[in-house]
Amino acid sequence: MPFRPRYTGLIERYRDRLPVSADTKIISLGEGNTPLLKLNNIPKHIGKNVEIYVKYEGLNPTGSFKDRGMTMAVTKAVEAGSKAIICASTGNTSAAAAAYAARAGITAFVLIPDGKIALGKLAQAMMHDAVVIQIKGNFDEGMQLVKDVAEHAPVTIVNSINPYRLQGQKTAAFEIVEELGRAPDYHCLPVGNAGNITAHWIGYSEYASKCGDHVTDACALCHGECKFTKDAVISSRPKMVGYQAAGSAPFMRGEMVDNPETVATAIRIGHPQSWDMAWKVKEESEGWFDECDDDTILAAQKLLAEKEGIFCEPASATSLAGAIRDIQSGKIPEGSVVVCTLTGHGLKDPDIAIKQSSSPLITVDANLDAVRDAILGNLAK
Ligand code: F0G
Repeated sequence: MPFRPRYTGLIERYRDRLPVSADTKIISLGEGNTPLLKLNNIPKHIGKNVEIYVKYEGLNPTGSFKDRGMTMAVTKAVEAGSKAIICASTGNTSAAAAAYAARAGITAFVLIPDGKIALGKLAQAMMHDAVVIQIKGNFDEGMQLVKDVAEHAPVTIVNSINPYRLQGQKTAAFEIVEELGRAPDYHCLPVGNAGNITAHWIGYSEYASKCGDHVTDACALCHGECKFTKDAVISSRPKMVGYQAAGSAPFMRGEMVDNPETVATAIRIGHPQSWDMAWKVKEESEGWFDECDDDTILAAQKLLAEKEGIFCEPASATSLAGAIRDIQSGKIPEGSVVVCTLTGHGLKDPDIAIKQSSSPLITVDANLDAVRDAILGNLAK
């Protein structure tokens, strides 16, 4: 039987492009290496000749892209001797922080907005034994508190203001390039704090550059100790397109939003931490920001689940919702290769999924006639 090496996570995979040394003890749960699925039915459904791929980041170990950044952040925190990590979170970062802290044998403190995170994410933080602090405020207030408290307590912040987070997350761009054999023309992402869109741009930029090139200020390629002796892997980079929920769209308003509101609780963020970097990404890539209302987001989540068998959480569907609209309007032209990142798994937020499901639950007596009638009655649908 032919053997292949066991996949042991993205730090091992991209060791030569990440700030780790031979002695670094890696804290991994086998994250990364997620499927890049080509949509078969939705392009036909919208009647457009485009190649749409979704990068299904919900298949990371804790069900979101946060694991990519968290393996790096926790690995580096442990390397620096830290015994505790802390984050503010709309849910997914807290789930990832809790899991990687458990793996490392250190403590995770997570600040979450009271009553505003999806149930699956709360269950994860609790199950991995994080210290869960619910604040009577939103993510932005939690983020400020984390920054303040970290000055008074021996804790390492693992939000995306920790530069190692973006280093880990950039590997998603590497994987996409390796599978497509090129960069996509457009890369669409949901935007909250704007760390992920920045991280992808770092990744694409790194693959487009040679040793010594610094194509963007956001590029943390070598930190002055250049060890990249590679040739460029790609000759062009995608246009980066960031979509926000309409009630939570500071990049569309051009200023911070104080009371963000959206059904896509993961991106219910009014004061993005990577504000300057994300504007730079938009300009350098010649991309754009846009917004989608909650109904459009939920419709895209449903469409993807019904037409392609792919279940993502509401925030994740924002990338596809925006992409479909821009494909239909021709802003993204036919013939394009488009990648949409699906940031988190649909099971994270079962409440919203069940609420908007159109299939009625059928309850019948436990006998053959009743079950047969239920089947025949629904076959024609
Ligand atoms: N999609 C999901 C599912 C998320 O959880 C997040 C962010 C984003 C998109 C936006 O990514 O912030 O890099 O622009 N969630 C953070 C959290 C804020 O706490 O889990 P971003």
